[in-house]
Amino acid sequence: MNEKEKILSIFTKVLNGACLKKAVFSKSVSSNVIRCVCRVFASKNDESFLQLETFTSDNKAFHKNIPLSEAPEILTEMATHSYMQTNVIATDGQCEIKVSKKGKIFVLDKIAGSSPITETESHNRQKNYILASAPGHERFLYLLGLANESGRILDKKQSKFRQINRFIEHLDDVYSELPSDGELTVCDLCCGKSYLTFAVYYYLTAIKGRKIRMYGVDLKKDVITYCTDVAKRLSCTDLEFICSDISEFSCEKIDLVISLHACDIATDIVLGYAIKHKARVILSTPCCHHEMMHQIDCEELSFITKHSMLSQKLCDAATDALRCLMLEANGYSVEALELIDPDETPKNLLIRAILDPDARKQKLLSYRSQYESACRLLGVDPYLKNLMEEEKI
Ligand SMILES: C[S@@+](CC[C@H](N)C(=O)[O-])C[C@H]1O[C@@H](n2cnc3c(N)ncnc32)[C@H](O)[C@@H]1O
Repeated sequence: MNEKEKILSIFTKVLNGACLKKAVFSKSVSSNVIRCVCRVFASKNDESFLQLETFTSDNKAFHKNIPLSEAPEILTEMATHSYMQTNVIATDGQCEIKVSKKGKIFVLDKIAGSSPITETESHNRQKNYILASAPGHERFLYLLGLANESGRILDKKQSKFRQINRFIEHLDDVYSELPSDGELTVCDLCCGKSYLTFAVYYYLTAIKGRKIRMYGVDLKKDVITYCTDVAKRLSCTDLEFICSDISEFSCEKIDLVISLHACDIATDIVLGYAIKHKARVILSTPCCHHEMMHQIDCEELSFITKHSMLSQKLCDAATDALRCLMLEANGYSVEALELIDPDETPKNLLIRAILDPDARKQKLLSYRSQYESACRLLGVDPYLKNLMEEEKI
């Protein structure tokens, strides 16, 4: 088997075995093209196809869909003639294909081909999501503009849809930590257009059969009006949208706080709020960070902070690590998890905090002291710390 036949067999294997996550073609031989990313999607008629998303040097992206039956040949042609590098990412390994300037082909295949995506997933990835088992979920997806009338997720909303489904999976993992009886109170702080709010609402009511009181809070009046209307059309009487700064929002008791991409220090307000109300479970995915970049002052770390890009990464990590420590100092057991594949969103950290009613005071004091020394080392005065002091939490 020559290298070209080997590549054809790799594409055939991952497509027939339904284990292709994506194929990325880079180092194009054409100066107008930067790269091409290929993924399998399901059509309205439940037929799978391969979508080629080609990025051009004038910052445009073009989409082309091809039938799966034709895909192995086309991808092989692209990998051997149109691009100098191809990375095939499958569920069970990766393959790298390189073409030298002299046209010599190198294939490094580390795909086992042993664990294909399930048949259902390969035909329609939406079907394996927890949310898909919630009766009536198609209608909210349609009303929020995520899906068409027949429930098919719009191409440009696929990534958002995957994010909220992944978030629901994380919630499912900690569902048992929530009170098992009675009404649950849930807040989505900085809910925006509320895809997540509705998803969590359907998960808790339609899948888990719980009685809930849920609030979505955001500053934007237009989105709150829109979401209120959607909730009314879906007869979600126990779901209320409130136009407010989250720092001014209050409710009596709270079991679950969720927040997806609350901008900058809004995540600190979310965490401060959840701590203050002793929320049993907190699931928060931070967004952009700005505060620490303006504050950090640490000679020992200047070998990092002198490079602004590395300094931003350090500040991102330190900001979230300090948030985790503050939660720990307030009786939460905390994990910093990956929300979803970083290709979906760079803001993919999920802070998962579960209140531990038996946390020992000594342990909490030790977390607090770690927090104080980390702030001293970095020369920072985080918003969350001040918020906690102001609120006397
Ligand atoms: C990046 S969007 C995320 C929206 C939504 N959670 C999502 O993931 O689609 C951030 C949202 O936070 C809201 N926001 C930022 N600061 C806020 C604050 N202090 N109070 C209420 N909403 C706030 C903005 O209006 C915006 O809708």
